[in-house]
Amino acid sequence: MGSFADKPTIRGTLVTLRPIVAADADAMFAGLDDPEAKRLTGTHREFTREVIEQWAASRIEQDDRLDLAITDAHTGAWAGELAINDWDPDNRSCGIRIAVDAAYRDRGVGTEAMRLAIDYVFESLPIHRLSLEVFSFNPRAIAVYRKLGFMQEGVLRDALLWDGEFHDTILMSILRPDWETR
Ligand SMILES: CC(C)(COP(=O)(O)OP(=O)(O)OC[C@H]1O[C@@H](n2cnc3c(N)ncnc32)[C@H](O)[C@@H]1OP(=O)(O)O)[C@@H](O)C(=O)NCCC(=O)NCCS
Repeated sequence: MGSFADKPTIRGTLVTLRPIVAADADAMFAGLDDPEAKRLTGTHREFTREVIEQWAASRIEQDDRLDLAITDAHTGAWAGELAINDWDPDNRSCGIRIAVDAAYRDRGVGTEAMRLAIDYVFESLPIHRLSLEVFSFNPRAIAVYRKLGFMQEGVLRDALLWDGEFHDTILMSILRPDWETR
């Protein structure tokens, strides 16, 4: 089965998805300074500048995952990031996650970026199953995923501890037949 060695640039109307490169470290680091994004992605860890620089520079070499910058289709500015990860070639499955920067949320950017990524995965690779996790307190993300054909398949009860409270994690997936008929 193919791999994620190809690093595509995918053009939409609002956004262009392109491979993450070393020069993106500044924007990535700035995006981490957002308490709301940390809560919505359940990010407990604090990242140093050095870790982010190494992360950004090394994305292009990874052949088992795809890390894409979501950029403004008109200006090229960084608008967030999207990753296709957890590739399991034996079972033809992988995961997907997205984070749109605060300034670009609620403008259709996340929906279009996810749609472009999902189409790329199913059109270019023999992937059967694409899955994700989302917290129960994130109705906006759940709405986007449902709109694109993801179905809820389970709940990890009290899987996230945030600010002293436990929250459920919702498991969702889209299978190739769902995508073909959506
Ligand atoms: C989740 C995220 C990717 C969505 O992208 P976005 O660009 O903000 O969303 P869009 O503008 O494309 O679409 C939002 C949709 O959610 C709907 N929505 C917004 N708030 C909602 C709410 N409280 N309840 C239900 N639906 C809601 C909107 O109506 C819209 O749907 P529509 O286009 O059918 O009207 C983005 O907000 C984000 O990255 N947030 C921070 C990090 C995060 O939550 N990541 C996901 C972790 S699983």
